[in-house]
Amino acid sequence: MRRSDTPHDVAMMSDIRVARTLFGPPFPLLVAASKNWLAKERKNVTALFVMYAEGTFLPAETAPFSILRERTHGGSDVYVGQVTAASAGADAKRFFPANAAWEDWRARTAVTAAIHPDYQRMGLATAAVRVFMHDWAVAQMGATELRAKCFASNIGSKHGFIEEPLLRGEVAVIEAKGGGVEPDMTLIWHLE
Ligand SMILES: CC(C)(COP(=O)(O)OP(=O)(O)OC[C@H]1O[C@@H](n2cnc3c(N)ncnc32)[C@H](O)[C@@H]1OP(=O)(O)O)[C@@H](O)C(=O)NCCC(=O)NCCS
Repeated sequence: MRRSDTPHDVAMMSDIRVARTLFGPPFPLLVAASKNWLAKERKNVTALFVMYAEGTFLPAETAPFSILRERTHGGSDVYVGQVTAASAGADAKRFFPANAAWEDWRARTAVTAAIHPDYQRMGLATAAVRVFMHDWAVAQMGATELRAKCFASNIGSKHGFIEEPLLRGEVAVIEAKGGGVEPDMTLIWHLE
């Protein structure tokens, strides 16, 4: 990620078409909040690379990438969105019993993707989440189960995940996004 990503991040996360589908980020997203997020991501990435360089690599707690870009023929690139990883939370019990050796939170990684509306429905989130799952979360984070929590209406988020009917719930929508309460769903992918 680059410092120059901030205006693109702010624009995408402040676009109501994207913001309305996300639980978390403040709306509208302020420049300072975006800068803080990017700085935190950069710190995590730097720490991962230092561990690699020193040979002290441990199962990572996050991913060393988050911004997705489209490479143009001229060699430059364009910000198209982001994919981020986090702990699914201490209370997120592992749903599938596979790989019982992993009992800590790394086994239950949460993933969130956001694609700029101009680039949606082109298969980008599916491709990014697949790379994230196989090449990073399983290989480097020790994840055996990935989950994504979103509004039940967000069918574009499935990316090969399966909805778990036992984990249905509801979530409050912040006032700036219209308020009220909406049903949510938990999507799960697990290592066979
Ligand atoms: C959800 C989101 C990440 C999907 O990204 P995307 O790059 O457009 O997704 P893909 O092109 O890989 O499509 C994935 C699947 O969902 C379907 N899909 C995507 N958007 C859809 C929509 N708005 N309505 C219905 N289906 C949709 C696609 O047709 C595809 O299905 P298929 O595999 O059967 O063809 C994107 O719409 C987005 O950023 N939304 C706003 C933020 C958000 O909701 N993030 C997820 C919160 S967990």
